[in-house]
Amino acid sequence: MKIAIGCDHGGLEHKNAIAEHLKERGFEICDFGIYEQTSVDYPDIAVKVTAAIKSGECERGILVCGTGIGMSLAANKVKGIRAAVCSDHFSAKYTRLHNDSNVLCLGGRVIGIGTALELADLFVDTEFEGGRHQKRVDKITAIEEAN
Ligand code: RB5
Repeated sequence: MKIAIGCDHGGLEHKNAIAEHLKERGFEICDFGIYEQTSVDYPDIAVKVTAAIKSGECERGILVCGTGIGMSLAANKVKGIRAAVCSDHFSAKYTRLHNDSNVLCLGGRVIGIGTALELADLFVDTEFEGGRHQKRVDKITAIEEAN
């Protein structure tokens, strides 16, 4: 699976650690930056990562900012993106099982790197359950289409 990853200055260390960890696990990583500690606007990174998912280049994405919230707000503006901010294991697992989320957003100032790696693992390892949840995801898409 190919994974798009990106961060702003609030999440550089976490992003680099996740990218390394997932590479070691055999995933292909498309790293959209940032690559050094410099102040950037998180929507600029969110748009790059989500574009890679929309184009089909990458299957899922991981975005890290200070809280994860700004990245999720920006990512969720893109059609077809279901981005979830998670800081606990249950949410990271269930946003895949039930919401078929395709972007995980993490807060570099909220969780430690150890937790970030575990949440990233759950996000890439868990498959959507489908069934009754498909209808609900379809309703999210319908809201997107209507607005
Ligand atoms: C940057 O200071 C910070 O606002 C950003 O990383 C993020 O937390 C926004 O939601």
